Amino acid sequence: MTARLLELSGIRAAHGGITVLHGIDLAVRAGQVVALLGPNGAGKTTTLKVAAGVHPPTGGRLLLGGRDATGMPPGDLARAGVCLIPEGRGVFPNLSVRDNLQMMTFTGRAREEIEETAYARFPALGTRRAQAAGTLSGGEQQMLALARGLATDPAVLLLDELSMGLAPLVVAGLYEHVAEIARQGVAVLVVEQFATAVLKLADHAAVLVRGRIRWQGHPDSSLHAELSSYYLGSPT
Ligand SMILES: Nc1ncnc2c1ncn2[C@@H]1O[C@H](COP(=O)(O)OP(=O)(O)O)[C@@H](O)[C@H]1O
Ligand SMILES: [Mg+2]
Repeated sequence: MTARLLELSGIRAAHGGITVLHGIDLAVRAGQVVALLGPNGAGKTTTLKVAAGVHPPTGGRLLLGGRDATGMPPGDLARAGVCLIPEGRGVFPNLSVRDNLQMMTFTGRAREEIEETAYARFPALGTRRAQAAGTLSGGEQQMLALARGLATDPAVLLLDELSMGLAPLVVAGLYEHVAEIARQGVAVLVVEQFATAVLKLADHAAVLVRGRIRWQGHPDSSLHAELSSYYLGSPT
C-alpha cells in the first residue's frame, strides 16, 4: 500500500468560538479517492479548509507526506502540492476559458503547455477557449476548475461538492475524470452531500455528522445503511 499523503489526526476547528470539528481522523493515500460524506452543516467544507491551510485548526495535526504541516500557511501548502477546488466552481466568470487557464502560469509552467494539457483532458474546453467562463455549462465550469487545479500539478486534490447543481449524467462524467486523476497517483479527497456518484469510484468513505466521523471504511452495503439513517428522504 502506498504511503499516506494527507493525514488529519484529531483535527478540531471552530467558527467564531464554536467548535464545529471535534477530532477528525482521516487519511488519503496516493492514487486513492476518499469520499467525505455528510449532511449540510456537518463540517465537510471546514475539514477541506483545514487540509488546505485556509482555516486554522484549534487542535490535532495535519500531516503531509508524513511530515507535520499543522499551521503551515496556505501558500506553502499549495507549493507542497495541496490543491483545493472550492464549493461553487473556482473560475472567473467574466474571463475566457483561455484567460482562466493563463492565470495559472504563476506556477511557472508555460501557457501553451497548460492549455494543451487542459484541452487534451477536456476537449470541450478546447472548443470553447475564447468563451467567457460564466457562459459555459455547469459541468464545463467544473472541468475548467479542475483544469486550473491540475495546472498546479497537485499531489493532493481537495474537491468540495463537485456535483452541486449538476445533472447526474454530467456528475458521472466529471467523476470519470476524477478517477483518472487518481489513477495518475494524485490523492483525492472528495466532499459530497449526496453520495451516489462518488461511491462508484471511492476507495474509502467517511460519514461526517455534526463534526464527528460516525462511520468510515470501504464503501459497501453497511455504508448505505449508515447514510440512509442520516439522509431521511434524500438520495443516497
Ligand atoms: N464562516 C463561518 N462563520 C461561522 N460559522 C460557520 C462558517 N462556516 C461554517 N460555519 C458553521 O460551521 C459548521 C460546519 O460548516 P461547513 O464546514 O460549511 O459544513 P458542510 O460543508 O458540511 O455543510 C456549520 O454549523 C456552519 O454553520
Ligand atoms: Mg460545504
